[in-house]
Amino acid sequence: MHGHPKINIKGSPFNRRTFLKLFAAGGLAAAGGASYMKFFEPGNFQITRRRLHLPGGPYGGTLLHISDLHASDEVNLGLLRKAVRIIEKIRPVPNAILITGDFITDRLPHPEGLLGELQRLAKIAPCYLTYGNHDGGGWSGFAYRGYPNTDFVDRICTQAGMYPLVNKRTELELPGGRVILAGVGDLWSGSMRPELSLKTFADTLPVLLLSHNPDTKDRLTSWHWDAMLCGHTHGGQCVVPVFGWRPVLPVKDKRFVEGLYNWHGRTLHITRGVGSLLGLRFNCPPELSLLQV
Ligand SMILES: [Fe+2]
Repeated sequence: MHGHPKINIKGSPFNRRTFLKLFAAGGLAAAGGASYMKFFEPGNFQITRRRLHLPGGPYGGTLLHISDLHASDEVNLGLLRKAVRIIEKIRPVPNAILITGDFITDRLPHPEGLLGELQRLAKIAPCYLTYGNHDGGGWSGFAYRGYPNTDFVDRICTQAGMYPLVNKRTELELPGGRVILAGVGDLWSGSMRPELSLKTFADTLPVLLLSHNPDTKDRLTSWHWDAMLCGHTHGGQCVVPVFGWRPVLPVKDKRFVEGLYNWHGRTLHITRGVGSLLGLRFNCPPELSLLQV
């Protein structure tokens, strides 16, 4: 007799109906998971508070460290707006806002939205920043459909009233004294010039360094800095529950992913970032980091 082969074996719990039910449930779970990754977690901002020890401190100040905004026309402007509204309500108001790069993802034909949000940030507190691999330069221009240099992002940030510290330094006045704020250009973009912003001997004031990529640390061992603030890792962006596995981690030294680390007597702080690539996150919410110094 011809006909369809029977899947339904008598007595077997795994008949076609069960299979279809399981298939539908799996599909729903996948769709649910995808919606969660796309529509819930990327906007679930966490404010974390940590104490960052600097020599001669405490300085009685609070610094907001944010990173990796990744503004892109289709993905992230609404999220950025939400983050800025949360930051506006933080009390006490931070003494400064420190931004460690990746303002954009690739090209941004309509930068007005980003500009508006950066202007709002600059009204809260003085904003100091450096750029990341996505902000323009060797990596972005040739490997990622981005800008060949940082002029575009630089124009937006300075127009917003922010202070780029790309291979530059300045002093920041805090209630308990002054600290040096220094920055270096991005590692992957080949725009790091530490000789322009750092010294090889100890400064009289503590040096807080802004550098997008935490791997930078290994290239800066002969320069003097006390703490380095970074982003770039996005905390992994997707973290497998229970195992803690982070399949997407674009750094060589995978020990340094998020949070505070002591590294040969110096401090590293890595924030998970405000935005993300493709607007997807799982078990790794975006972060607004408050550092008490
Ligand atoms: Fe990034």
